Amino acid sequence: SVTLQENASGFCGVDGAVESEHSGFTGAGYANTDNASGEGVDWSVTVPAAGNYSLKWRYANSGSDRPAAVLVNGGNQASLSMGSTGAWSSYSDSSAVTVWLNGGTNSIRLQATGSSGLGNIDSMSI
Ligand code: GCU
Ligand code: CA
Repeated sequence: SVTLQENASGFCGVDGAVESEHSGFTGAGYANTDNASGEGVDWSVTVPAAGNYSLKWRYANSGSDRPAAVLVNGGNQASLSMGSTGAWSSYSDSSAVTVWLNGGTNSIRLQATGSSGLGNIDSMSI
């Protein structure tokens, strides 16, 4: 498994800001999206061959569920709930989702489907 952090070679963009206020993150910080539906975090991921790949995210959320859709190359392939981890400084892995990736470079977007935006996203693992 490979972990792509905010500052790693796998590009990460965020509708919001990369912040470091709440400790416990890895790398340079975590992605804090604006708190609205449709806000998200983007990665660019290159894989050697087309196939099914398992993705999960390390995140923090102090409150109620922050559900998300997983968009691959613009298509909605999965959804997941991202419930409370207990505190903004307490990070946990989400459940895993399986998506189909093309061989070569893919865009992956984790996008909020609830009005509070995403939890704070530390990293994505493949
Ligand atoms: C707080 C917290 C942020 C978080 C936000 C939210 O402001 O400090 O890190 O992103 O809540 O509710 O999304
Ligand atoms: Ca936020």
